[in-house]
Amino acid sequence: MKDDNVIICRCSDVTLKDIRDLIDQGYNTFDEIKRITRIGMGACQGKTCTQLVLREIATRTGKPIESLKPQTSRPTAVGVKLGVIAKGDCDDEK
Ligand code: FES
Repeated sequence: MKDDNVIICRCSDVTLKDIRDLIDQGYNTFDEIKRITRIGMGACQGKTCTQLVLREIATRTGKPIESLKPQTSRPTAVGVKLGVIAKGDCDDEK
């Protein structure tokens, strides 16, 4: 298997080749790559792919990985109790 075909972000189906092409085009921060590919925005919120992308940026740009800023992880949604969903009860509609 060629390295380029390796999936870096399984949530957004982004390969190592996608990341390398973007870095070669001048996108050198995690946020820039995130905005183009949606990497780090999947169900795992970047738990798997963030470090892989930062490592690839560091390798290709020569920057120390410690100097690269990772994304800010945020919850995908507010928790809702199943009972509220089952009842169809919602405070916003009252
Ligand atoms: S693997 Fe990238 S967001 Fe889940």
